[in-house]
Amino acid sequence: MSKSFTQQPKAESFKDALIEAARTPGARRFHDRRHLIDTGDLSYEEVAAIIETTTVCKHITVKHRRPLDLLSDRVVSTLFYENSTRTRSSFELAATSLGARVLDLNIQTSSVVKGETIGDTASTLVAMGVDALIQRHSISGAAHKLVSTVPSYVSIINAGDGWNAHPTQALLDLFTILELLDSVDGKKIVIVGDVKHSRVARSNIRLLSRLGADVHACAPPPLMPSGLREMGAQTHTKLETALEGADIVMALRLQQERMQDGLIPSLGDYQHLYRIDHQRIKAAKPTVRLMHPGPVNKGVEVTTELANDPKISLINTQVTNGVAVRMAVLTLLLYKPE
Ligand code: CP
Repeated sequence: MSKSFTQQPKAESFKDALIEAARTPGARRFHDRRHLIDTGDLSYEEVAAIIETTTVCKHITVKHRRPLDLLSDRVVSTLFYENSTRTRSSFELAATSLGARVLDLNIQTSSVVKGETIGDTASTLVAMGVDALIQRHSISGAAHKLVSTVPSYVSIINAGDGWNAHPTQALLDLFTILELLDSVDGKKIVIVGDVKHSRVARSNIRLLSRLGADVHACAPPPLMPSGLREMGAQTHTKLETALEGADIVMALRLQQERMQDGLIPSLGDYQHLYRIDHQRIKAAKPTVRLMHPGPVNKGVEVTTELANDPKISLINTQVTNGVAVRMAVLTLLLYKPE
């Protein structure tokens, strides 16, 4: 798995380049797949198709900056039962950049507050002509459940479900790494923090381990879930050991809203043992780069100085790449090439 962002799309126009990317054998598999629920069931060819299409989309976001008319006959709806800044905004930007119409349902003012179920809300939007539902929900498995409640021509895109999965975050993380490294094969990638509550960690472990990365997870024992070895990650409780020789360090947000009282003794204890700073990250390779899905609790998971250090931190690049990767996912799921 490798890519070169410096490679210019060869086609005549950005739209042609995107259509070309959507015609590869790996890309065509998305027309049968129709949904994106997690990274674990994506084949190597499908991941490669997303990365190649994202490369074209990134050129579009950087150089074209005007909507294309690729998906002008499509309507997508965002359904965010949980708060979001990055994922919700970037999906909206991605869809409008491809010419799709976007229906952003405000859950707080919708009939959900009157007791409407997830399935009924989805069916209602489908009856209005929506082609894709982009859902975030606090319940693990909510996206998977939605698949069985909509007609087969409607695409479901998981924008985060409980602790389970956040596939587009993992894909944008992979793309961000591949802009720097030729490949993730054999690279040491260390995920640090509240792994237990993290859908980002799970989707990244499932994706990176199957691409040959040497994936490690590091957390205080109460925030380390079981089953990570089976997913493909080595586990650590000591930060210094985990960071040794790392190519990439991914810090995770301490998800206090999902945490039962007392899982960690105090924020101070957490910072003392697990906060990543310029000194601690020296245990990694000299070329190490820091990632974080956001939102960052600056000073808790990473120091503000490290998070803002442009030589080490990729946090803003991840946000930028989020739009391109979501454009790629929407193209592959919704554009029908001849
Ligand atoms: N990384 C991420 O999912 O951020 P948001 O919650 O802001 O979408």
